[in-house]
Amino acid sequence: MNHQRRLLLLGSAGAAAAASIGAPVVAATAKAGAQIDVHIELHAVPDQVSVRPGTATRVWRYRGKLLRGDTTALESSAGGYLGPTIRVRRGQRVRIDLVNGLPESTIIHWHGLHVPDDMDGHPRFAIGPGARYVYEFTVDNRAGSYWYHPHPHGRTGKQVYAGLAGLFLVSDDEEAALDLPSGAQDLALVIQDRNLDADNQFVYLDGNTGAAPQRRGMMGEGMMGGGMMGGRMMGRGMGSMMAGMMGVLGDQMLVNGSLASPRHVERRAHRLRLFNASNTRTLKLAWRDQTPLTVIGSDGGLLAAPIQRDYVMLAPAERVELWVDFSHWPPGSGLVLRSLAFEGGMDMGGMMGGGSSLPDGAAFDVLPFRVGGGTERNESPPARLSTITTAEPRMAVNYARPKVFEMTMGMMVWGINGESFDMLGASELETVKLGTHEIWEFRNEGRGSMMGMVMPHSMHVHGLQFRIIGRSVSRRFADEYGSVKAGFVDEGWKDTVLVMPGERVRVLLRFSDFTGLFLYHCHMLEHEDTGLMRNYRVEA
Ligand code: C2O
Ligand code: CU
Repeated sequence: MNHQRRLLLLGSAGAAAAASIGAPVVAATAKAGAQIDVHIELHAVPDQVSVRPGTATRVWRYRGKLLRGDTTALESSAGGYLGPTIRVRRGQRVRIDLVNGLPESTIIHWHGLHVPDDMDGHPRFAIGPGARYVYEFTVDNRAGSYWYHPHPHGRTGKQVYAGLAGLFLVSDDEEAALDLPSGAQDLALVIQDRNLDADNQFVYLDGNTGAAPQRRGMMGEGMMGGGMMGGRMMGRGMGSMMAGMMGVLGDQMLVNGSLASPRHVERRAHRLRLFNASNTRTLKLAWRDQTPLTVIGSDGGLLAAPIQRDYVMLAPAERVELWVDFSHWPPGSGLVLRSLAFEGGMDMGGMMGGGSSLPDGAAFDVLPFRVGGGTERNESPPARLSTITTAEPRMAVNYARPKVFEMTMGMMVWGINGESFDMLGASELETVKLGTHEIWEFRNEGRGSMMGMVMPHSMHVHGLQFRIIGRSVSRRFADEYGSVKAGFVDEGWKDTVLVMPGERVRVLLRFSDFTGLFLYHCHMLEHEDTGLMRNYRVEA
């Protein structure tokens, strides 16, 4: 079916559904008559794209239409299944209509943005097939690399895996004054792991991505194990159930929605924005030739100054920005961005066996680069990148008694302090006052886990950017921790933080501008979908 016709059909299905449910859902905080700088329509639709040579892959993806604003505000992705890249400036008023062309409910979350709760894509706002959700907000974030993805309860993992994700890049005056590499020298690279069957279709758990057909055959046939548990040692149902909880790992690396193919780069400075948009896999990124990395940014934009790392850890949903001067390498050279081996991943010592042919924490190539000709320029990044106020833990109203949020496992469900997701609920501990700072401590000590197994988690808080003010690890995990700890980028603003086995991470948060119900959760999407998610409530 060609695309035109598909959209037409979706359109009429949409009209029918809209008629039956009434007017489009317009978030309450939308201001009638406010001047809109950018207006975009995003359609979530089934589609087919070439992910690797051969049969096209059935995916779900976002397609965008710019209704108002500079043509630079919406850039459709080149090849692959990623949604269009949205580029806005801080201070702009944005309206985005989500039109659900999928056969199930969905909603979009703007990952990292500071917006009112009814603009944030909480699962309680999910809309059914054919319906429309109208977002409207003022972009109030620092310049940085944010992104958007679905957030319906229990189905986020499946929908992201099917292809739904896109970039939301914000610029501001402070960043513009730096004159950082731009255009072809500003490369956004979205890294995702997937399992593909012999017919190039995504394999998710029992094949139920919706985009993919029911999986043929048993878990454990060939190398297409549906997750860490794969099969071999367990029947399909059990393996899939375990993977559905522990997380789905893939053995194919995709970059920007298609099989990672070499990037050709000029011998000059580049800005590399790296996104880990994998469902569960954590990356330990480094150059294969061990050239150190120059890090200039993280989740919430530019750091105060560039820092050096031999490798960087990037958990699901984290971002890091690198300054790379490719004139460091001779013309014609090839270099490879790799994920290095690390301990403490969710493989758990191979106890479960089978699984994806690429366990968590295994080493693999992510993306090759080919360096072009041209003369050496030797460009270095600006010594000062942005203004970042010092984190002042003493500003927290609970400075003396940090709130503890512990990742827990019950009878095959995840939780936080023993509680799973509750759509409208937030406990007293999860209630905060508008305008205050708090210290939260995420603990990952394997409470309630089966046989003492502990795996990493990637903790994300909606609606704000926080600061990381402390980490500690229990002795029992010190060795594993040693293989990752030099790769944290804790200096800047963050919205997601890797919490390794045995680790406690303290963060300083500020609840400003918006009251209401927001999420915090593990961004390993199968954990999130099976209970490792809770609300927090901001009260006036
Ligand atoms: Cu990027 Cu609640 O998620
Ligand atoms: Cu998790």
